Amino acid sequence: MIHVLGAKQFVRREVEDLFASARRLEERVKRGGLDLLRGRIMATVFFEPSTRTRLSFEAAMLRLGGQVISTENAAQFSSAIKGETLEDSIRVIGAYADVIVLRHHEEGAAARAAAVSSVPVINAGDGPGEHPTQALLDLYAIYREKGRIDGLRVAMVGDLAYGRTVHSLTYLLSLFREIHIDFVSPPETPVPDHVLEYLEQRGVSWSRETDLERAAAQADVLYQTRIQKERFPSRELYERAYGRYVVDSGLLSRMRADAVIMHPLPRAGEIDPAVDADPRAAYFRQAAGGLYVRMALLCRCLGAALGTELGKPAGSWRKGVPLA
Ligand code: CP
Repeated sequence: MIHVLGAKQFVRREVEDLFASARRLEERVKRGGLDLLRGRIMATVFFEPSTRTRLSFEAAMLRLGGQVISTENAAQFSSAIKGETLEDSIRVIGAYADVIVLRHHEEGAAARAAAVSSVPVINAGDGPGEHPTQALLDLYAIYREKGRIDGLRVAMVGDLAYGRTVHSLTYLLSLFREIHIDFVSPPETPVPDHVLEYLEQRGVSWSRETDLERAAAQADVLYQTRIQKERFPSRELYERAYGRYVVDSGLLSRMRADAVIMHPLPRAGEIDPAVDADPRAAYFRQAAGGLYVRMALLCRCLGAALGTELGKPAGSWRKGVPLA
């Protein structure tokens, strides 16, 4: 049984295989529906709000010919409100579905769920912990936009403490060669020490930077994030962190012509909408690609072989040819 709980569980080869599958699925979906997961059911169990993760997982399952059951506000509308434990809920949902996609406000919730689950559990975000499927789609977007991942300089900007996508993406980047990561955050939301210790163990080059213009000027990829208001212990601390680092037209003019601006979304003021028209703004393409990465992940978790009907990918990973 394959659970997807955190980005550290992946090795480079698995990530490359997943991306190759995502590319094949992307090409195939344009030609119509698939039935690779016909007869299978996915449960989406979301204790926190979501637009992209829940809907793209559900669209992925439907496009693969499977079916979906869902509780989109599980904190209010599942039996959690009556006092049912997460573990009991998962035991029961596992009797109805073949895979469970779980978003929860507590770090470690997905691992707790996996420990009692009879079916694969996919972590769709566990509090300030991790968001591994977002990181996979982020990395897929980097590959699509840049044509490679090795040798890139990535600036992680914004809420690096509570921003779970940053943690997961940092772990995945550590699988690649000659990566350098600049961490740019307000003092209220520094990247956690345990993330930096992991980079040290893996020999990944990193630095802290307070000057966004300097980091942006050197970046191949600028990964902006939202200040996570809902996770701050006080409004005062949030207001101190909010609005410190904004991507706007002025910053764009300092960036390289071939740089890429990414954001896991939703945004809340940290990227000026005027930036959207710039070809370097990749965040909506990034979100769109998540569908195919999640299709590939569902196939993997449910043991569906892509087979020959999908054909071979249009370019090889080694060549690093981005899809049109
Ligand atoms: N990026 C992301 O997780 O978005 P949602 O909260 O809308 O799912």
